[in-house]
Amino acid sequence: MVGVIVQEAKIDQMQTALLVIGIFENERDFSKSKGLNSTITAAIIELIENKEFKRSFGSNIIFHMMGKGLIKKIMLIGLGTREKFTDEEARIIAGKAALKAKELGVEEFCILPFMDVDEALIEAISEGVLLSLYSFNRYKTRGKEATTTPAQATIVVNSDSAKFQAVVDKVNLITQAVNYARDLSNLPPNECPPSQLASLALALDGEYGIKTRILERYEMESIGLNGIVSVGKGSNNPPKLIILEYYGNADHQKPYLLVGKAVTFDTGGISLKPGDKMDEMKFDKCGGCSVLGILKAIASLGLPVNVIGIIPSVENMPSSTSFRPGDIIRMYNGKTVEILNTDAEGRIILADAMAYGVAMYNPQAIIDLATLTGACVIALGANVAAVIGTSKYLAERLSKISEKTGERIWDLPLHDEYHEQIKSTVADLKNIGGRPGGAITAAAFLSNFTNDIPWVHLDIAGTAWTQDGTFERSYNPKGATGFGVRTMVKFLMEVPNK
Ligand code: BES
Ligand code: MG
Ligand code: ZN
Repeated sequence: MVGVIVQEAKIDQMQTALLVIGIFENERDFSKSKGLNSTITAAIIELIENKEFKRSFGSNIIFHMMGKGLIKKIMLIGLGTREKFTDEEARIIAGKAALKAKELGVEEFCILPFMDVDEALIEAISEGVLLSLYSFNRYKTRGKEATTTPAQATIVVNSDSAKFQAVVDKVNLITQAVNYARDLSNLPPNECPPSQLASLALALDGEYGIKTRILERYEMESIGLNGIVSVGKGSNNPPKLIILEYYGNADHQKPYLLVGKAVTFDTGGISLKPGDKMDEMKFDKCGGCSVLGILKAIASLGLPVNVIGIIPSVENMPSSTSFRPGDIIRMYNGKTVEILNTDAEGRIILADAMAYGVAMYNPQAIIDLATLTGACVIALGANVAAVIGTSKYLAERLSKISEKTGERIWDLPLHDEYHEQIKSTVADLKNIGGRPGGAITAAAFLSNFTNDIPWVHLDIAGTAWTQDGTFERSYNPKGATGFGVRTMVKFLMEVPNK
């Protein structure tokens, strides 16, 4: 695994197999601002004048220094125009450079920050490197040894290296948690039934003060978590309720409750899904895996917050023991739900988990993460998650933070009228609201289980893994993205201490 460090150095002192230099399209006098020597400057000018290096966003060229100095090779990478260059572009470019370094087979490489350094730029560059070099190859028996990942990336600065190293140290912990969430999410469904997810969560018990416990099916039955039990009925792999507690704040701060959907495989149940792309429903556990990643990150950072993570985990299967359309379930909080489609299972298990969390922990706020609806992907596409809920404050904070993290989030409304769509004629609620506004009616359903505690729901159906319509981004390799971990950790870093 790659490690990122920050170092203060002048260009002529740097000994490296590969130096990455980014240049803007409209940048003049880059030589001075980057502290380049005359040999390197002359080479770059020639490549630009010959139109071999165009400086458009992401374009790149590699040349050898032929023994002139301590740098073996240089990678020039185009940064596009300065006006369009934000932290997200820095993340993407750093990721591209890291992937190129891997392709070249170098053991280490250096990056010159692309412009005047500040903490946000260092953060973005290190995130790009650490997230792009992730790959899931646990199940590849051949070719594992053939690809060497660079062991070290050095960000070269001309001052304040200690301050910037502290930023990178935090990014190291956070990206490790993102990659951990990706690793769990990418597990195939045969190797990750609810019991396996529960064991993996138990491995976090005791780590940096996290407490983990698992509620078994019989316990859920006895306390009335009938939503989770019902959805899990069709599978031989019993459901589990994973509960994590992290108390980093001694000042009696009411906890934040994070709830993550972890359907280890969603066939749709008796309302069976069509076969096309059904394999992707192994990613229906991504919300829960992100919650595990968030807990791991905040605990390893030692954040002064109290956080409870609750992850209902089930396998949604069709069988003679499955729950069915027509069933009426009495949920943990006493409300009754008429099932009209067993494929709308996520809201059932989340609702029980939220109601349980509310009753046990009296949280100050609830945030749930779930691959909840295909309708969300129709509404916002595969690059933006939806935020829907009852707390304008939470929705605005998360949207704002998402602009920095690049984990795009957009809010959808939750007007009173949406609740009409999920009223049942025979029970309090029904579990589907028809096609119009499908992502919103799913959230309207969940709002019945929050006990009026400030709450938002993140529908990550489009963004939790790379799918049809996902934009190519260097730092999101194929498969699970770990969406939500970075944004939620930033949110929890910034919450008031009460
Ligand atoms: N896990 C799916 C949602 C989903 C579908 C996520 C496709 C990502 C891609 C969820 O359990 C589901 O099946 N939802 C149904 C709800 C419908 C029956 C009201 C859906 O979106 O089709
Ligand atoms: Mg479903
Ligand atoms: Zn599902």
